[in-house]
Amino acid sequence: MSSGSGKGKTILFGEHFVVYGLPALAAGIASETTAKITRVRSFGWKLVDDRPAMPGYKEKKYEEQKVSIDKMLEHLNIDVTKTGFQIDLGGDLVCASGIGASAASCVAIARALSEEYSLGLDDEQINETAYIGEMGYHGTPSGIDNTASTYGGLIWYVRDLSGGTPKFEKLKLGKSANLVIASTGLTASTKVVVGDVAKKKEADPDWFDSVSEKYVQLVNAAREALIGLKFNKVGELMNKNHTLLQELTVSCKELDNLVDIARDNGAIGAKMTGTGRGGNIIALAPDEPTTKKIAEALKKGRAAGVWTTTFGL
Ligand code: MEV
Repeated sequence: MSSGSGKGKTILFGEHFVVYGLPALAAGIASETTAKITRVRSFGWKLVDDRPAMPGYKEKKYEEQKVSIDKMLEHLNIDVTKTGFQIDLGGDLVCASGIGASAASCVAIARALSEEYSLGLDDEQINETAYIGEMGYHGTPSGIDNTASTYGGLIWYVRDLSGGTPKFEKLKLGKSANLVIASTGLTASTKVVVGDVAKKKEADPDWFDSVSEKYVQLVNAAREALIGLKFNKVGELMNKNHTLLQELTVSCKELDNLVDIARDNGAIGAKMTGTGRGGNIIALAPDEPTTKKIAEALKKGRAAGVWTTTFGL
């Protein structure tokens, strides 16, 4: 029996824009998915998925998950006509759109397979394998989710559009920042939402370029503000990033509602995170008491799940 784990993540800045080679900032969170591989006598693989999840999440993702696992096995040259095993998924990461759940499971499975089949994969190869796995969930992943899940921490990530190795940098802040994460309870298909943005870009390239230009200024300012520990500025930029995501039509009324509740209850900034059209929001809080206040207000405001975490150290 072998095991592995992968961290959940939130995208602080840059979901969707990152697909087009623009920089993004993501933070790994403490919650993680674990995978256990146990060999069985029969051939092929079987999945027992005990991850905590938003209602409907696992059912909606199951077909993509099967493709994802097969892709990783093929990439690792594990021939399931000659071997058989059971994958048990667990851990404390509550699966919801926007928290990097698919990437965390890919990383966890890749690590467990590496151990079970003595492949000796290092983090770079685990990340590469998880990227292949992410392709099962949508055809054109930027790679930010699997990178954040493999390495954890705060990362600055730029996809190489010609298919080369992405650039990523780990950032360490001198201080940790408080984050509240809240779920709408709705699960969106990343493939569909990313595809819709691609169609909008194709239909009106000038519009997309002008939104992208605003975004690039914003993310560069966000990086500077984070490194300078100017969290008020970071929050203001998160609010602006949310507006740009609304322009891309990837937000929805449920996300906007949670963002408003967080802002009305003391968040320095709040935005949707990840794919959108459901999934999660993140809110930056100035201190612990306000973190609690925002979390309580979101619970009262019928968020389907609310978690608090920190990032930066
Ligand atoms: C999904 O967590 C983030 C997206 O930008 C897609 C991707 O980066 O592959 C929407």
